[in-house]
Amino acid sequence: MDRVPTGIDGLDELIEGGFPRGRTVLVSGGCGTGKSIFGIQFLYHGAATYNEPGIYVTVDERPETMRQDMLRFGWDIRALEDQGKFVVLDLTGSKTGITSEEKYAMSSEHLDIDLLTLKVMQTASEIGARRIVIDSLPALGFHMKTEEEIRAMILKLAYMIRRSGLTAVLISEVPEQNISSGGPIQFSKYGVEEYVADGVIILHYLGNRVGGVNRTLYIRKMRGTKHSEDIIPLFITERGIKLTTPEEALRI
Ligand SMILES: Nc1ncnc2c1ncn2[C@@H]1O[C@H](COP(=O)(O)OP(=O)(O)OP(=O)(O)O)[C@@H](O)[C@H]1O
Ligand SMILES: [Mg+2]
Repeated sequence: MDRVPTGIDGLDELIEGGFPRGRTVLVSGGCGTGKSIFGIQFLYHGAATYNEPGIYVTVDERPETMRQDMLRFGWDIRALEDQGKFVVLDLTGSKTGITSEEKYAMSSEHLDIDLLTLKVMQTASEIGARRIVIDSLPALGFHMKTEEEIRAMILKLAYMIRRSGLTAVLISEVPEQNISSGGPIQFSKYGVEEYVADGVIILHYLGNRVGGVNRTLYIRKMRGTKHSEDIIPLFITERGIKLTTPEEALRI
């Protein structure tokens, strides 16, 4: 199987070399667990290191803030955009009603998933995209009235992505209490995301623990892949997300 190197330091060796090409991986976790950094790191290295252009669909965070924050990791997103290897598709207007100044933007209050699909396909063929990140599914569902509608949207989106051949990271959310409550474990907000995804990665924030491990990553599933089943310590360094073995983590 063709593998897509993730650009996440330490991840590829846990999943037989990378994500299965053309598949969809769900990255889920509570707020501030590093989901957006994960997604952008996947796209940044896709474009900068592996010559695989990518599209970042942002619904929550304004593109300009994102570009600024990512400079902290040494990732010059604007430069990649200028080279035609990276597109930030701004959907923040659909939430705030504010008109975007971005080159790639959609700002309809009632977000039309067919229009979004069309825009993504056009943009993908324009830059020869191989990767896409949607940040995030719950934010996309913000204006929808029922969970049924949101589920239909997610299914449609997943179908479009599968047909397009793009390797995708979909970002979702897990309610915080499900992580430690001992109750039924939920991997996504609407309960369908994990089924349309070929892989599920869960990020946790533990708070300041003894041994210095505050964050973890866990591969819940990766179809067609023999993957690690460990809870992996995750660090956000000056170069982005870095995974370590538990032994390494104790030495830090
Ligand atoms: N330059 C940095 N160095 C170290 N840690 C950072 C840096 N920038 C951000 N972080 C950490 O990463 C967190 C934000 O990560 P990110 O935006 O990816 O989270 P998220 O899971 O997408 O959150 P949300 O649910 O709010 O969208 C911050 O709260 C902070 O703890
Ligand atoms: Mg985020």
